[in-house]
Amino acid sequence: MNYLPSPTRYDVGRYRRTGRSGLHLPEISLGLWHNFGGVDVLETQRAMVRFAFDQGITHFDLANNYGPPPGSAEENFKQLLDSDLRPFRDELVISTKAGYRMWPGPYGEWGSRKYLISSCDQSLKRMGLEYVDIFYSHRPDPNTPLEETMGALDHLVRSGKALYVGISSYSAEQTKEAAAILKSLGTPCLIHQPVYNILNRWIEDGLTDVLEDEGIGCIPFCPLAQGLLTNRYLERIPEDSRAAKSHGFLQTSEVERQQVRIQALAAVAAGRGVSLAQLALQWVLRKPVITSALIGASSVKQIEENLAALGGAELSSDELAAIDAACAL
Ligand SMILES: NC(=O)c1ccc[n+]([C@@H]2O[C@H](COP(=O)([O-])OP(=O)(O)OC[C@H]3O[C@@H](n4cnc5c(N)ncnc54)[C@H](OP(=O)(O)O)[C@@H]3O)[C@@H](O)[C@H]2O)c1
Repeated sequence: MNYLPSPTRYDVGRYRRTGRSGLHLPEISLGLWHNFGGVDVLETQRAMVRFAFDQGITHFDLANNYGPPPGSAEENFKQLLDSDLRPFRDELVISTKAGYRMWPGPYGEWGSRKYLISSCDQSLKRMGLEYVDIFYSHRPDPNTPLEETMGALDHLVRSGKALYVGISSYSAEQTKEAAAILKSLGTPCLIHQPVYNILNRWIEDGLTDVLEDEGIGCIPFCPLAQGLLTNRYLERIPEDSRAAKSHGFLQTSEVERQQVRIQALAAVAAGRGVSLAQLALQWVLRKPVITSALIGASSVKQIEENLAALGGAELSSDELAAIDAACAL
């Protein structure tokens, strides 16, 4: 059946400006790292992407290597574009990245011009797109001059293959340098994609200051710590969870290591009358420097619960203190 998006999808209108750019992103964006690969059920993927778009989620984040197998998330996304979303291409912000190992040999990972440009070409082909909205350097490369990596990003914009560029997991210092190079080339750095959540706050140690100074947006990945900051693991590791999957990136040892903190955080959430996932998202989005929280999901129900976090009351100083105390356990 032909898909018709909900006519009310923009009624709530929760979008934030990306740094000092003209691009707005939804407060919650959907990433296709897990649960969108060749090993996953396409109909579940379709239901999640349709639901997300129907709720005003305009931004979908991919990378060359998402799967498994690597590349299959982009291939599946092409199918969803073909069947559902392609008529709405101009309403979508689609991002992809290159940086991690994608193909064998010396040109299949890191940050050379050779790798980034050919990987972008491959991603465009896999998704059936003429351009992506944002192309990222997925990780800093210690062995390639930053000028070369940023030059490749600038080239992708100038050749029409990307509208904007971003960087992921660059330190505060590397971000400052990358932003200066991009500025000198005339292609500003739109956005930074770092890991950030209640349990991992490294960006507060210098990076957010740089992003504010430079007018760069920030889209934290793993805002739910891969599912740790949800009701998923409060008692045990469910069979259908990421931690239980052989290809999942969440280690069972990490679940065990964080269990006490998660349970204490769940109590803080209950006191506020929200779920742990909702508390975690409200916490990540509490600062204006944050443009969007980049979630993952394995069901429509999870996306629905997560979207309900938006528009909640500000976290009080007592609640923030209780969250910090839970993390110190
Ligand atoms: N730039 C980078 O290096 C990088 C690295 C990692 C991720 N990313 C991006 O960030 C995106 C998000 O990463 P992530 O998937 O780790 O994010 P996350 O939001 O921290 O975790 C998502 C997982 O949490 C669980 N979950 C979500 N909502 C839930 C709810 N309401 N109740 C119970 N469980 C819930 C699901 O686990 P189950 O699957 O177990 O149900 C879901 O797969 C990725 O798709 C990717 O686009 C980027």
